[in-house]
Amino acid sequence: MVDPNLEKVVHFERDRPDVQGDAHPKKLLRAIIEDGDHLTKLSAQHIYSADQFDRDTLLQLFRLAAKYEANPGRFATSLDGQILISAFYEPSTRTRLSFESAWHRLGGDIMSITDRSTTGIAKGESLRDVGEMFNNYGDCVVLRDTEESSVREMMGALRIPIINAGNGTDEHPTQALADLYTIFKWRPDLLTEERGQPLNLCIVGLPSKMRTVRSLLKLLCDFPECFGTVTIINDLTIEEMFCQDQLEQLTEAGLNIKTLDCLNDALPEADVVYINAISWEGDSFKQYGSVYHLDADSPLKENAIILHPLARGEELCTSLDSTPHNWYFSQARGAVFLRMALLTCLVQRAERVLDVI
Ligand code: CP
Repeated sequence: MVDPNLEKVVHFERDRPDVQGDAHPKKLLRAIIEDGDHLTKLSAQHIYSADQFDRDTLLQLFRLAAKYEANPGRFATSLDGQILISAFYEPSTRTRLSFESAWHRLGGDIMSITDRSTTGIAKGESLRDVGEMFNNYGDCVVLRDTEESSVREMMGALRIPIINAGNGTDEHPTQALADLYTIFKWRPDLLTEERGQPLNLCIVGLPSKMRTVRSLLKLLCDFPECFGTVTIINDLTIEEMFCQDQLEQLTEAGLNIKTLDCLNDALPEADVVYINAISWEGDSFKQYGSVYHLDADSPLKENAIILHPLARGEELCTSLDSTPHNWYFSQARGAVFLRMALLTCLVQRAERVLDVI
């Protein structure tokens, strides 16, 4: 006989909503008119920095991601015959598995390397030479590396696209794409003529060191009219908070950047709270902003949503998981569809999925 306590925990509801913030991709789909030309040009690019994306390309990527999310089973063979080389030389839960899930869901095959010491790098082989070999083995590379320079080094040898999946403290462009996709799924009206109030975005993080924050801020520059204020919460000096020219570039793009050291002063005005505490530096991670915490008792606006690139620490209390503020699990889920959209474009398969209702 099964122990009654075990009986309680082994059963789960397959049909319960998987996340709070189960947004409606169809509303975003309807808010953006399809124009595939902006996606076709991605087939001749490596994805290194969030700076590479212009507004039109972003909108079309979000549209394609929403199309995948609205009809997840419809495009199961878009990448048949294609091979992804997934090379992660730094720990990852979400980025590696969501890229691999995205590729599998589109019918492609994968070769995965999770430890650089199992490759010729352990014998002194250069990343450039490894890249030269990758040309023979696959159709697309996703690379995460602790070193900022690694993606560029491999790019120099590749004739197939490579995606930067996080390079040290520098950038994490596809995380930022997933972040902005989540925001526009929540508020697709921001992209229409009936646009409601622009958002007050509160970022608890460190733009000079956190690659997720750095890449997100770059993407926001393409949509300054959607954000009334972007408030960075930190207790460091301006010089420590931003790296050289970073603040100037953001303000020149039309963003209204503010800085505050008290989180609870900012929360009552914030529509979106983005929080992160980790930066990968060298061979390990560092935590910043240990004084900042969000929990179910934080003075959040009733309709505010919380985003977090995850992995989380004590800055984001699990008491928020079952509240409508929790959009961080939805953000992680949507990243699969966003990555499906990007991968399709990079390997020249966009024409297979455009114009398909
Ligand atoms: N958001 C993110 O980069 O998570 P992982 O480190 O788990 O990939």
